[in-house]
Amino acid sequence: MATANVIVDRSQGVAPVQRRVFGSFIEHLGRCVYTGIHEPGHPTADGHGFRGDVLALVRELGVSTVRYPGGNFVSGYRWEDGVGPVAERPRRLDLAWHSLETNEVGLDEFARWCRLAGCEPMLAVNLGTRGVQEALDVLEYANHPGGTALSDQRVANGSVAPHDIRMWCLGNEMDGPWQVGHMTAGEYGALAARTAAAMKMVDPALELVACGSSGSGMPTFGEWERVVLEAAYDHVDYISCHAYYQEHDGDLGSFLASSLDMEYFIETVVATADHVRHKLRKDRAIAISFDEWNVWYQSRFTESGKVTAGWPVAPRLLEDVYSVADAVVVGSLLITLLRHSDRVRSASLAQLVNVIGPIMTEPGGPAWRQTTFFPFATTARLAAGQVLNPRVETGTYATARHGEAPLVDAVATHDADTGSAAVFLVNRSREATTVRIDVHDLGVGAIREALTLADPDPYATNTREQPDRVQLQPNATAAHTDGVVRIELPPVSWTALALG
Ligand code: AHR
Repeated sequence: MATANVIVDRSQGVAPVQRRVFGSFIEHLGRCVYTGIHEPGHPTADGHGFRGDVLALVRELGVSTVRYPGGNFVSGYRWEDGVGPVAERPRRLDLAWHSLETNEVGLDEFARWCRLAGCEPMLAVNLGTRGVQEALDVLEYANHPGGTALSDQRVANGSVAPHDIRMWCLGNEMDGPWQVGHMTAGEYGALAARTAAAMKMVDPALELVACGSSGSGMPTFGEWERVVLEAAYDHVDYISCHAYYQEHDGDLGSFLASSLDMEYFIETVVATADHVRHKLRKDRAIAISFDEWNVWYQSRFTESGKVTAGWPVAPRLLEDVYSVADAVVVGSLLITLLRHSDRVRSASLAQLVNVIGPIMTEPGGPAWRQTTFFPFATTARLAAGQVLNPRVETGTYATARHGEAPLVDAVATHDADTGSAAVFLVNRSREATTVRIDVHDLGVGAIREALTLADPDPYATNTREQPDRVQLQPNATAAHTDGVVRIELPPVSWTALALG
């Protein structure tokens, strides 16, 4: 059997765990909103039409922030359409997803849903077809206590207390030719700077996210970040990263190593942001908001012709059914995000329900957990205190897409207040691997939980018919003696250990 060593100690501290790294994303896309979080008439729906079964799963998932309302959708969105009496709201063409938007759910409903779910809202403004004035308007509507035209409108609409939204995205993927209102880096940087400066005149404590690249493979990657940050550095706090991964042509080995691209992406953006920082002689560092990341079988979406005929309301779009291998990749991407907690201060699993989501629903029917639900929920639940970047001694394997990849990867957290620790591990090997984890330095005495996601069939999924086919299993091989944990990781697996 293959072996690996993981050495964890407190000198490996990266940064405190950033709760916002466990964020997600709700876009007006497909069935994420309609029949996802919102379905009046569903047996579990409350008086506002929010599905109670979905809310319970969102709480279990441990989501911190939720980005809204897009995504590509936001670049053609008029936020005013989604407030006021529902019966009077206009129906609009959504160009991004070739759908019909009924506007039954808008800003006030989303804020109410966030309160029910225990999540922090994160709002994106439209910089595709709109600009500074509309961003200021939605900010006034959302956050100003009252006594102005737009804040009083919010109060009249039933939201007496301001929504107090702290994080705002300045548009979405403006580097992408598919984006409504797509711009060059120079055009976007100037608009983002003007918009951000004006928003901070309202509230200097807002946290603003400039659009970075839609993927590390974009032809403008790197240069886009440089130009945008040179224009907007003084006014923004974050630059965004977006990344989606999938298995291509049966190349499971490359797919399992997707986090190497995420590492490269983060490190390149950090280097670029720091280059601009030093060039402009600034003290403050820019953080990363990795506000779209996931496994997404984009090739299936492209091959399907991308859009359904006509302009349907809430069509079934991007409803990927995730396998064990997909969940292992999601778990390993979380390891990478945590490892970069010094700069990645916020992240959003895209998306939350039905649309490439960890939660699936049927209209009028059940809601269930996809495989990807488990590594997210467990990492969000167990990661606490300080992130540690352990030394991992492991073999490597050759991949077509990412070069040599470590067979085993790991990250740890240590909470000095409670004396507890957690170790998250991925085994990319097709063989079982015995891992020796040296936790002497943490002073932890017992294994509280050892949970593994694996299956003899790495393509096993959860479906409506078999919603519990794939679940986390206690890993009975885990044993702790004299500051050393030994555990067997099954082939293609993700594991969480809670120590205390
Ligand atoms: O999450 C799906 C889409 O992916 C989003 O709308 C867009 O921002 C990205 O390209």
